[in-house]
Amino acid sequence: MNIAIIGTGYVGLTTGTCLASVGHRVICVDNDEKKLEMLLEGKSPIYEPGLEELMAKSIAQGNLIFSGNTKQAIKESEMVFICVNTPPRHDGHADLKYVEKVAREIAEHLNGYKVIVDKSTVPVQTAEKVKNTIERYASEGHEFDVVSNPEFLREGTAVHDTLYPDRIVIGAESEKARNAMISLFEPLIAGKDVPVKITSVRSAELIKHGANTFLATKISFANLIAEACENAGADAYEVLDAIGLDARIGRHFLNHGIGFGGSCFPKDIKAFKKTLEVLGVDPSLVHSVESINQNAIDRFIQKIEKTLWVLDGKRIAILGLSFKPNTDDIRNSPALKIIDKLLSDGVVVSAHDPKAMDKTRELFPDIMYANSPYEAVKGCDAVVFCTEWQEYKDINLRELGEKMQTRILFDGRGVIDPKNANDNGFQYYGMGR
Ligand code: UGA
Repeated sequence: MNIAIIGTGYVGLTTGTCLASVGHRVICVDNDEKKLEMLLEGKSPIYEPGLEELMAKSIAQGNLIFSGNTKQAIKESEMVFICVNTPPRHDGHADLKYVEKVAREIAEHLNGYKVIVDKSTVPVQTAEKVKNTIERYASEGHEFDVVSNPEFLREGTAVHDTLYPDRIVIGAESEKARNAMISLFEPLIAGKDVPVKITSVRSAELIKHGANTFLATKISFANLIAEACENAGADAYEVLDAIGLDARIGRHFLNHGIGFGGSCFPKDIKAFKKTLEVLGVDPSLVHSVESINQNAIDRFIQKIEKTLWVLDGKRIAILGLSFKPNTDDIRNSPALKIIDKLLSDGVVVSAHDPKAMDKTRELFPDIMYANSPYEAVKGCDAVVFCTEWQEYKDINLRELGEKMQTRILFDGRGVIDPKNANDNGFQYYGMGR
């Protein structure tokens, strides 16, 4: 099938590349010139395991093209995917101005029946607004359908999640659109046990916000238990392990620490809260999820402040800058909030991350970036683990300690075994213990 992908962020670029790799002809469009320049050179603007290799393969096969020409991409395609960002507005609502802009472009260049697929995360009832916009601005009366096809990929495993999805949700109102979507995904589902959930458009939109809010709720629940454990003298690892053994609950995604970051959960929770308000539904559960998440990072910072007493002039190494491992994405990363606070307290900060230092340098140009965790901690009064990269889990604590002024370790993500830390002369401060 001929497909246009408008917007080449995590979702658009991964979706486009994966669909091209299974035989579709895909044109990915972006209006960011810097990004487009990289893409045209075959480089991925984001670090995502396996993505650049798959791009190279699909480009070589002639199935993947990058372009700044939205008009041509729309005209040549049977399906147009809207994959633009939906950032939070100042009032928390999702800002849909980029979605509207694409809808108007589609209207302008509609030249026959097309399926318009909304993959951007949007509030329920957005597809109807996209449909109205296209009808309002289309110069000729061509037929089209608007479909909601939410994306569930995780950064760091985006290619795998797209090629081997745990479910596919298709929200469509017409048989023609439903069939087109099933043909599109055929190479990903044929012979495999992938559940395909066909729903109404509104349900599909709600599934996405519902899924992300539930996952974030699980994390905040874990952080609530962690705080209770700290105050009661219990161990959150023991408690959550046992709670998670109940198959109805599950241990997965029940990890406490310094809370969730990234571009999705924080923004989707804000947007869903607003959607619930608009729908007349009490949003207090979602509100609590958000405030517990903020509380987790605040408690961690307080631990550092309380333990080190006077911070002005102290040296602290931050290990891990990305919001989670296997990505260079630093959006809403708890590490950045910690750096910001420590700098305002007069701390001399050094930092290390396997992938995210270039992006962090743009925000904090004046802190020291080290080539290794061992270099980062040289002469430091404390080390703070903010992301659970495998490299940190495998760290040699004896060597780390030898480089430091005082062996004080704060562990925001359960990266280090406290016994191992103590055996190597560290004072260990974790979360939930
Ligand atoms: C999330 C969802 O997991 C995807 O299914 C969804 O498609 C995506 O948002 C999206 O809406 O596009 P992602 O933001 O890549 O994916 O990252 P997650 O793996 O969900 O992690 C989010 C944050 O939660 C990270 O900061 C992570 O460290 C934190 N987390 C995760 C915890 O604190 N505890 C856990 O148990 C799990």
